[in-house]
Amino acid sequence: MHHQQLEPFPKDFLWGAASAAYQIEGAYAEDGKGPSIWDEFSKIPDKTVQGTNGDVAVDHYHRYKEDVQLMADMGMKSYRFSVAWSRIIPDGEGKVNEAGLQFYENLIDELIHHSIEPVLTLYHWDLPLALQEKYNGWESRKLVSFFKKYCEVLYNRFKEKVKYWVTFNEQNVFTAMGYRWESHPPNTSDVKRMFEANHVINLANAEAILSFKELVPNGLIGPSFGYGPMYPLTADPKDVLAAENGDDFNNSWWLDVYCKGKYPVFTFKQLQKLGVAPTIFPEDEVLLKSAKSDFLGINYYHGGTARENKIDNKENAAHTEDKSFSATDPYLMQPKEEQSQSPEIPMFQSVSNPYLQKTVWGWEIDPIGFRVALRKVYARYDLPIFITENGLGAIDELTGERTIEDDYRIDYLREHILEMQKALTDGVPIIGYCAWSFTDLLSWLNGYKKRYGFVYIDRDNKQEKELERIPKKSFYWYKELIQTNGRNLTEYYSEVQK
Ligand code: BG6
Repeated sequence: MHHQQLEPFPKDFLWGAASAAYQIEGAYAEDGKGPSIWDEFSKIPDKTVQGTNGDVAVDHYHRYKEDVQLMADMGMKSYRFSVAWSRIIPDGEGKVNEAGLQFYENLIDELIHHSIEPVLTLYHWDLPLALQEKYNGWESRKLVSFFKKYCEVLYNRFKEKVKYWVTFNEQNVFTAMGYRWESHPPNTSDVKRMFEANHVINLANAEAILSFKELVPNGLIGPSFGYGPMYPLTADPKDVLAAENGDDFNNSWWLDVYCKGKYPVFTFKQLQKLGVAPTIFPEDEVLLKSAKSDFLGINYYHGGTARENKIDNKENAAHTEDKSFSATDPYLMQPKEEQSQSPEIPMFQSVSNPYLQKTVWGWEIDPIGFRVALRKVYARYDLPIFITENGLGAIDELTGERTIEDDYRIDYLREHILEMQKALTDGVPIIGYCAWSFTDLLSWLNGYKKRYGFVYIDRDNKQEKELERIPKKSFYWYKELIQTNGRNLTEYYSEVQK
């Protein structure tokens, strides 16, 4: 669909930026904070690049006023941050720590003072360590009520001040990384456990939403999902089907539960076949169906491309007694327990997209995929969308004049925001856009070298230095974009059309 002219952004559009507690705060053991699973995991040798961790991070805990002042200088309309559960309830289930609440209250007040709308994420991956050690973390249903209690403490304290709330950040990412790929806590590689924990988190998400509706009737709540559209590698119907499977496995598996209250049938049957489907009680189904999000947070970095996995055919062939396939097929030769560790293999095969360039870290750059994503999600779930993350991880160099000429980031953001505006013009309702991230911060596994911010932080993997804040060229570009509510983009678009 081509538009001669793009519709303007709504006048109250929430231009902003996002962060997460562990990636910026530091002060990991201050003012009564309990340890989180990330405080422990990041200290395991070889888990993070050069042993980087969030002990100090970018010291936002002590410098939040300076950071908010910079946000105000930029004219930001919204700021998405997360609360560290173990600051509020140090052991996850017991006494509330007033000092932790006070820190977030101060931050929220500072934002409001500068007319910046706070967007509060309840869970961005830093579970209190005590809950992991005592109950096995999200594998225990006990966590549903502990999470609810923690949320209620925040709802009650901030309901007059915070309108936008995010439940879980990228449940798809932290469950896969933590329970399948051993690269996040709890450092596990067991697909059955992953799906069980994921189901418990779905229940926690639903309970948190239900209690929000009671306690914060004027607020809006939803999860933030790491969404990537799936493309077929070719127009071969087999690849098209593979992409459908990929979409079911990578996206609908979570989004259908959030928005329709039930798991998508194709993936569910496949997991059942392999004995790795989650355990679901009838009351779970009732709960999942009853919790309704007000909006969907979408974090967009890139999508995926799929082709038919030949195993599909081989399985058929095996049924027709052609033993030659199963004899050579590594998947079919695996015992069922091993197949269950890769349940998607018969559904699709992920491949690189030959049309797309990649970032230094190998992430595909696909602005059009952003528009595709927004349209698909809206068409399927019919909820307003809040872009809760989008940005470029790059190596930024401080020049001799102590500036950062990050034109590549400006290009990246411009192209993505333009595609978002096209989606808006197509008819997708979008509440706001939070770029990832405001300041540079700790990239969970990649340390401080992979930078996303509008504001450079003068530190590296080894040395904290003075943690000086230096606005990058992209800071001034985004500032103008916000000032004009995207009008400079619209002009740029009209120019490109000529
Ligand atoms: C998202 C997370 O997955 O991507 C952020 O919500 C994260 O917390 C961001 O930092 C970028 O990922 P990475 O691995 O490049 O830091």
